[in-house]
Amino acid sequence: MEFLLILSREHPKIPYSEVKAVLDVECNNYNVKYQKDGIMVVSSDEDVGEILVNRLAYAHEVSKLLFMTNIENLKDKILKVDWDSILGQTFAVRVKRINSEISSREMEVKIGGIIDRLSSSKVNLENPESFVRVVFNDSKVFFGIRIGKINKKHFNIAKPHKRPFFHPSSLDPKIARCMVNLARVKKGEKILDPFCGAGGVLIEAGMIGIKVIGCDIDKKMVKGAIENLKYFGIKDFKVFQEDARKIKLKEKVDAIVTDPPYGISTSTKGEELSKLYYEFLLSAKDNLKDNGILCMASPHFVDIDKIIGKTKFKILERYEIRLHKSLTRIINVLKKFNEKGEN
Ligand SMILES: C[S@@+](CC[C@H](N)C(=O)[O-])C[C@H]1O[C@@H](n2cnc3c(N)ncnc32)[C@H](O)[C@@H]1O
Repeated sequence: MEFLLILSREHPKIPYSEVKAVLDVECNNYNVKYQKDGIMVVSSDEDVGEILVNRLAYAHEVSKLLFMTNIENLKDKILKVDWDSILGQTFAVRVKRINSEISSREMEVKIGGIIDRLSSSKVNLENPESFVRVVFNDSKVFFGIRIGKINKKHFNIAKPHKRPFFHPSSLDPKIARCMVNLARVKKGEKILDPFCGAGGVLIEAGMIGIKVIGCDIDKKMVKGAIENLKYFGIKDFKVFQEDARKIKLKEKVDAIVTDPPYGISTSTKGEELSKLYYEFLLSAKDNLKDNGILCMASPHFVDIDKIIGKTKFKILERYEIRLHKSLTRIINVLKKFNEKGEN
């Protein structure tokens, strides 16, 4: 199956990496066929369309790809499609253009007219059964049938200040969800957030059916995280008060996703944080399965390479997100070697 994705362009790399991470965990085999200007085409051996819609944060829409062509061959391609076998009783065409001079509105009318003549399905712009998604990017044209739109409403109502328990240190739900995805865990598997704060990561993991365990050194945060998890209807969770460096879980988790404190203070120059992070990584190793992923945010002034040098983790991916003039957040995707130290 082939999928056409329209991704967010908030970051140059993260949206593509998030898609690949979800495919890594949900498919045996996949190929990226196109990746440019927020447009991605992937082929996979599994029907992961709905899963992508439900899981992705940095995306707008997922469609089943019908074909990919160039402007010169467009009409021929449209004529060759058996539209009756694809469309419901009614349809609408939606055109998106990126680096293209065409007029979206004119194209919608033109393409809609051709499909209308070729099929028994009728145009309905208000409430169509099928959405024909068309993307013009440079000289390329992509046609798909929309599977679903990403639930923007959730990422809005789950913002830290809209939850029953608010704390300013809490992550925006989009980056929290993306970090969960980068940790490559499936529905039903288990993650740990040992610096859980108000529960930003736990909520996003719980929303996609992942079992969550969280702890925080601060009792107030533990209470707040539980309140927030309940508010979002998440049932499969365990949250308790503990120091992240001292956790001893009975069963190892599939992944760890966390946003530790940044302790922004020029006087420490990040040295104390390095110690906290190092001690946390030692404990993380004991609570994480072999080959499991630790997706961890950190401030730019902490040298994660130096810290992981002495642990059983190796770096897989790293992304920079500039928060403001003096703070860049780094998203580190680390993998635990197995106990024998092999990759
Ligand atoms: C940046 S906040 C986490 C925010 C959280 N990811 C969210 O989205 O709500 C860091 C949290 O780490 C907690 N913390 C600090 N030191 C800790 C330690 N040694 N063990 C566990 N939690 C700790 C703080 O109380 C704080 O709630």
